[in-house]
Amino acid sequence: MARLARTHQGDRILRGGETLLASCLDAGIPVASACDGRCACGRCLVTVLQGAEHLDPRTPRETALLDKLEAGQDQRLACQCPLPAEASALVITAGYW
Ligand code: FES
Repeated sequence: MARLARTHQGDRILRGGETLLASCLDAGIPVASACDGRCACGRCLVTVLQGAEHLDPRTPRETALLDKLEAGQDQRLACQCPLPAEASALVITAGYW
């Protein structure tokens, strides 16, 4: 089991224990952001392909911004998702990877 980011160049392993946004950036995967991870811009939107149950539930603040963006139920704001430190089967993607 692993935490993976699915990109056009293949799957990349993500380290846990930090936000999904930070983990992607640490792995060299670009994630758009215009608010420095403050849940204001909505540009860090990612799609969870597998393992959404391993992420914390959406907070009211994340839910409000996702609703404004008309995001799907399978989408999350990477800056608002802490990744569990333990291994979990999680696969995410973004349209521009
Ligand atoms: S980085 Fe702006 S909402 Fe996540």
